[in-house]
Amino acid sequence: MADLFDPTRYAAVRRPLLEASTLPPECYTSPAFYEREISNIFMRCWNLIGRADYVKRPGDFFTHTLAGSSLIIMHGEDGKIRAFVNSCRHRGAKLLEGEGNCKSIRCPYHSWLYSTTGKLRGANGMQNTRNFATADYGLTEVRLEMWGGFLFANFDPQCVSLREYLGDLDSFTESYRFEDLVTVKRREFTVRTNWKSYIENSMENFHLPTVHQKSIGGIKAEWNPIDGAPGNYVILQTRTTASRATLGNAATFDRIPTLRGPAAEGAQYILIYPCTVIGADLDCIWFKQMAPDGPGLVRYSAGFCFPSVTVGRPDFEQIVPNYHKRFDVVISEDNGIAETQLQGLANPLSRPGRFSTMESLVHVIDNWILDKVVGPQPAAQRTAAE
Ligand code: FES
Ligand SMILES: [Fe+2]
Repeated sequence: MADLFDPTRYAAVRRPLLEASTLPPECYTSPAFYEREISNIFMRCWNLIGRADYVKRPGDFFTHTLAGSSLIIMHGEDGKIRAFVNSCRHRGAKLLEGEGNCKSIRCPYHSWLYSTTGKLRGANGMQNTRNFATADYGLTEVRLEMWGGFLFANFDPQCVSLREYLGDLDSFTESYRFEDLVTVKRREFTVRTNWKSYIENSMENFHLPTVHQKSIGGIKAEWNPIDGAPGNYVILQTRTTASRATLGNAATFDRIPTLRGPAAEGAQYILIYPCTVIGADLDCIWFKQMAPDGPGLVRYSAGFCFPSVTVGRPDFEQIVPNYHKRFDVVISEDNGIAETQLQGLANPLSRPGRFSTMESLVHVIDNWILDKVVGPQPAAQRTAAE
């Protein structure tokens, strides 16, 4: 499709919400569009890769694949958490799988040995190789920064700091004290959908009465969408008096005691572009870190966090299944509809649609994506739309 990246092709998406069209279906299915998303978005933005409490002790590590690159996230013997490219500097073998703890990293191919800080400590067999200095062959590091106990990686050495990237997001989230929360459960999912379908779904409440009819669809709430630009986030706030994190009258835990402002008035669903979704409720938070794997597949890891006082309660193990049950039901409903949506979008005769007032953040997200993939809207067109 020769003109897939022509900004004028997307003029209808650029219009104000109630006059705008949705992204054309090919944006969800085209391998070329996806490749451009990888190079312009995933290789340049801050991507959630896990929580600091996954690697509490020196030597603790886990691996994570993002945009085709496997990374090792390692708590070094010097106390610092780093991200390394999971490839040996000798002849490239993959070094580690899964998660665990190690004193050093030994390559499974010819036994080169790296420290937990990424230094090449033993270069087996290289004694006679000319002009070879071990200092030049440490593991390749990828930028890793932390916010509220969440670890983010960025492949672009020129990128702005994570703090700058997030803008004023802290003003909405500070009182959760994310950094003090304990991650209690992690689950992995693979969904046959496009990653954009998934984040769009996370940021609109229109589908609740239909898709979540049997679970959370009947809960009455007021919704308030926030476009966090120039920070790279959006928030869907809801005002409710009770947590939405359990179903029906199931027993719940106490509220997070530190909550203030909008955080104390209901749940906040936060998308940090491109693939970090945090559901922050009155008594717990959950998060999803998405890693697309082609235009039609999303792998994601979901986690649950509670304050340490909650985790320390004697009845914690008794009550926490109520939260997991709600999460499992709702997530399978969302996964199902995301797959159904892509099946429809992949129909060659599918055409762009329109937005309701309940989908303002979907429109904001789609325009953010267009900014990155095809560039800003041409000036002449912008004036005509305003
Ligand atoms: S590839 Fe790692 S030691 Fe040879
Ligand atoms: Fe949903």
